[in-house]
Amino acid sequence: MDGYKVAELFSGAGLMGGGFKAAGFRSVFAAELDGKAVQTYNKNIEPVAEKWDVSEVKCDLKYDVLVAGPPCQGFSTLGRRDPKDVRNALSLKVFDWAEKHRPLVVVIENVPQFLNSDYCRELKERFEKSGYDSVSWLLNAADYGVAQNRKRSFTIFSLIGLPNKPQPCKERVTVKEAFSGLPKEANGENFHISPTPSELALARMKLIPENGDKRDLIKKAPDLCPPSWIKMGAQAVDVWGRMGLEKPANTIRCSFQSASKGRYLHPTENRVISLREGARIQGIPDDWSFVGDRTSIARQIGNGVPVPLAKAVALSITDLLKRRSSY
Ligand SMILES: C[S@@+](CC[C@H](N)C(=O)[O-])C[C@H]1O[C@@H](n2cnc3c(N)ncnc32)[C@H](O)[C@@H]1O
Repeated sequence: MDGYKVAELFSGAGLMGGGFKAAGFRSVFAAELDGKAVQTYNKNIEPVAEKWDVSEVKCDLKYDVLVAGPPCQGFSTLGRRDPKDVRNALSLKVFDWAEKHRPLVVVIENVPQFLNSDYCRELKERFEKSGYDSVSWLLNAADYGVAQNRKRSFTIFSLIGLPNKPQPCKERVTVKEAFSGLPKEANGENFHISPTPSELALARMKLIPENGDKRDLIKKAPDLCPPSWIKMGAQAVDVWGRMGLEKPANTIRCSFQSASKGRYLHPTENRVISLREGARIQGIPDDWSFVGDRTSIARQIGNGVPVPLAKAVALSITDLLKRRSSY
């Protein structure tokens, strides 16, 4: 146990925090607005998370590393990508916390588009003036032992030199491997819960093959499709998509309990993946429990950084901290 201390902003339910914990860090504080996510964090990571608005910098904190996952809706290609989205400006708050507490290293995680934003440029300028060097990485979770293609940017600011980019794993993890040992039926145990589809939804699901999606429905059963689908034609989209067993899943998001929102159908069962299967795809250990209703838990899971990816980043930061203390 290295015992390096980490504080987290926008901590969510603690998936990023879980990766840092797995790498040997001790969490001393986590700020998060969603009360259910705070409770989940406190159950699984360390009971230090508070319902706290990041706009207000907390006094009297001491830690080695500050980690932040600001809301990404304003940067994401799925959102409206509005540069004036007030949520984007929250990312600048990370600098205020760093100025106040002077951690050795700061890690900001976000969608890849964040790197091209004015906020990222502004942060780099402010941190540089304050004595920090910086480096940005684009990492795909599938390269770090996660059964999911999910690309995320990590920007590291450091007072002690720059860390090495985490080495990718050689093997890719498939959905089949991620789900191994779980009953095919979502039996309700240990968050293996999934919504019962309506009659119409079930009729649609039965016609969608592995790796198939809405386009199969338009071809096979136009009577089961709303007129808008037929009018728009068969674009390549993930909605009503079924996962493939032998490859990583596409990115899962907060809405993964709804078939109409993405490629969330189980590879072989006529249902969306369960909360526990979603957790497995995010690399969350089975001994984690969650607080909240199904929608809230899906948001906590879908919002997070896959735990093994966070661990790989955390281990690179540990190496940097160790190099410094051996001088
Ligand atoms: C992308 S999620 C972070 C996920 C987290 N990094 C993880 O791995 O689990 C962003 C989080 O920021 C929280 N949030 C948004 N505005 C906030 C604010 N002003 N103060 C604190 N948390 C905020 C949201 O509730 C959401 O949980």
